[in-house]
Amino acid sequence: MPKFLVDNKEIEAKQGTTLLKACLDNEIYIPNLCYLEGIDPPSVSCRMCFVEIEGERQPVTSCSVLVKDDMVVKTDTPAVRQLQRTGLRLLLSVHHVDCKNCQANKKCELQRMAKFLKVGLKPKGLERHLREIEIDRSHPFLDYYPNRCVLCGKCVHVCREKNGQSALTFSKRGFDTVISFYGVRDLSTLECENCSACIDICPVGALALKVTGAEDPTTA
Ligand code: SF4
Ligand code: SF4
Ligand code: FES
Repeated sequence: MPKFLVDNKEIEAKQGTTLLKACLDNEIYIPNLCYLEGIDPPSVSCRMCFVEIEGERQPVTSCSVLVKDDMVVKTDTPAVRQLQRTGLRLLLSVHHVDCKNCQANKKCELQRMAKFLKVGLKPKGLERHLREIEIDRSHPFLDYYPNRCVLCGKCVHVCREKNGQSALTFSKRGFDTVISFYGVRDLSTLECENCSACIDICPVGALALKVTGAEDPTTA
């Protein structure tokens, strides 16, 4: 088993383990949104899990590095924190922050990262660019909130793992990218059995069981 140093603490992990997982398993928190064991190769899309590794010229994403004997890793350097704070501000610039009306409130990874990095969820001077579609209600069981989605892809992955194919997919491109539901135009082909695995894995409040009318705080 490789043994290595993270923030001067010696840890060990099985060969083939990602550095991010090894750190999280050893109670060393590194901000992360898109990493999920089993997504292979990792999507490396959120660009939040930076660390510095001795011998590397620049910080690297810890979810895309496997542990090695004698690595020397630092998770809390000025360069790492600057990259993470910039990444978080970018995420927040396309996020509709309305925690009191969000079902992820108090268990949300964005809230956790913001607290950890000491960045307010509504930083002063941050321009916001929200998508025009506020909520996609086209699914029979789920609602999707594009302006909360961090496009981590975990929902797509867990649905595929559970059902053999995913009822969720990325659609559109660039700034317009969203998660969309397969089969909603033809309910007879919709594979979704309302297992809620996608809701459970979502690190924010972008997927929720459908609520209607007066129950729905977002329509208030
Ligand atoms: S997803 Fe998180 S940060 Fe966004 S509104 Fe919900 S609780 Fe707040
Ligand atoms: S809906 Fe949630 S799990 Fe799916 S991509 Fe968006 S943030 Fe990730
Ligand atoms: S967790 Fe590493 S890039 Fe998202």
